[in-house]
Amino acid sequence: MKIALSTSSPSQIETECLVIPVLDKGDKESAPEIQSSDSAIRKAAEGLIASKEITGKLFETVLLHQPAGTKAKRVLFVGGGKAKTFSSIELRKVAGTAARFCKGKNIRSFAFTSPETWTGKAEQSAHSTFATERAGLPEAVKSIVEGAVAADFDPDYYKSDRKDQKLDTMTVLVPASDAKNLEQAAEVGRVIGESQNFTRDLVNEPGNRMTPTILADRAKKMCDEVGLKCEIYGPDKIKEMKMGAFWSVAQGSDEEPRLIVMKYEPAGAPADKVLGLVGKGITFDTGGISIKPADNMEKMKYDMAGGASMIGTMRAIALLKPKVKVIGIVCASENMPSGKAQKPGDVQIAMNGKSIEIINTDAEGRLVLADGLHYARQLGATHLIDAATLTGAVVVALGSVNAGIFCNDEAYFDEFSEALKKSGEKMWRMPVDVEYNELIKSDIADIKNTGGRWGGAITAAMFLKEFVEDTPWIHLDIAGTAWIENKQPWIAVGPSGLPVRTLVEFAMQNGK
Ligand code: BES
Ligand code: MN
Ligand code: ZN
Repeated sequence: MKIALSTSSPSQIETECLVIPVLDKGDKESAPEIQSSDSAIRKAAEGLIASKEITGKLFETVLLHQPAGTKAKRVLFVGGGKAKTFSSIELRKVAGTAARFCKGKNIRSFAFTSPETWTGKAEQSAHSTFATERAGLPEAVKSIVEGAVAADFDPDYYKSDRKDQKLDTMTVLVPASDAKNLEQAAEVGRVIGESQNFTRDLVNEPGNRMTPTILADRAKKMCDEVGLKCEIYGPDKIKEMKMGAFWSVAQGSDEEPRLIVMKYEPAGAPADKVLGLVGKGITFDTGGISIKPADNMEKMKYDMAGGASMIGTMRAIALLKPKVKVIGIVCASENMPSGKAQKPGDVQIAMNGKSIEIINTDAEGRLVLADGLHYARQLGATHLIDAATLTGAVVVALGSVNAGIFCNDEAYFDEFSEALKKSGEKMWRMPVDVEYNELIKSDIADIKNTGGRWGGAITAAMFLKEFVEDTPWIHLDIAGTAWIENKQPWIAVGPSGLPVRTLVEFAMQNGK
């Protein structure tokens, strides 16, 4: 989709569809707030407001054809919810709703009016744990573009009757001032939205079409295109480097594992800060010898979502060029049962020398990440973030609304929270108290790879913590949030692309 900016007034723009956000003032007496002072637009809405067809309720859509005094073929009013709490989070979804509405009606181009009351600080958004700043028009434009670009994604690649039609152009209507700043904001939004979609494309692929080898090839191709260094290692090097935890998962499969290492080293970046992004890249998780039940096993094609998010994040970073060094590592493997597969009770030695008793071969994500995290530190990472579809337990705890955040460093967590406010991705902090360590003690090795029935997301995090030492570290358990199960007006069912947006914001914040 092409993105354009225009300083035309809403009623004067010629477009297939003119989109106007509407906010709910939250009390019975006040009329919904049409986000445009254009008199023809306000006139067009009058009757619909009187009849309560336009209320400003979140995701409400009301379509008009050629209202008097406008040059648009259609005008679409989209509800943004309560005015008080309206923030970039809702705005992104309003833009997404508009884009998907148009797409569904075969309208290929539309114009989106940026909101006029976009000032000050939103009260805590209904959609965020954190109060969100309304940082001004550039942030609004960026959010609109991100939301619309993400909405243009549909996972229908393998349907022979797929419509296969992407949107053509979105024109964002902005005030005349500040054009340069807004263009830059739109460009950032486009790169972030497209990188999120890049990740979603990888995650959407089924296991037979997204093996570790294919994932590594796709990463390499992307790196070549955007000018990142990329090294790919196979079984020999993984064994040679003594990545015993990673290899223990890979050994059971006929598909070779791949260790993907992407490096972004911009001139002028401080030497003392290197972000290490580590992703779980299990391209299919059968559970191994501790095999999973057949019901829903097909979903385990998305067990590489954490790894794919790191690849998408590196893409955005390479294009947006923050002044901070970043290393991206993806441990890609299948988890299969076979005559070569590891068995419950086996003991494995990780790259850092720690011995691990394997209790359940289905707790494989923490094994590949253990070596990935250690390797990132060896390569010089001073600050770590990992993302993984790690546990069913995090889904029990947080459902599909929030991803779990685990962190060993308060200041680092606070920095990360700033990025969350900007990205609009929802996450909730979980504990990593030392007391939980008891649960992963083994009788015969240093640690074991499962912690029993209770606090399963936490014991998985405690396991990872064994491999980061004192390095500031954030672990994101995205098992419940990497795949959108329920139909939404603003985004397709399927891979979400989480946490690409937050990681990109975080990198940009670190490299200002
Ligand atoms: N990939 C799964 C976790 C998962 C579950 C991801 C649901 C997405 C949706 C992970 O490898 C796994 O199997 N975890 C086990 C760990 C257990 C054996 C300690 C789990 O959560 O059941
Ligand atoms: Mn598993
Ligand atoms: Zn898994």
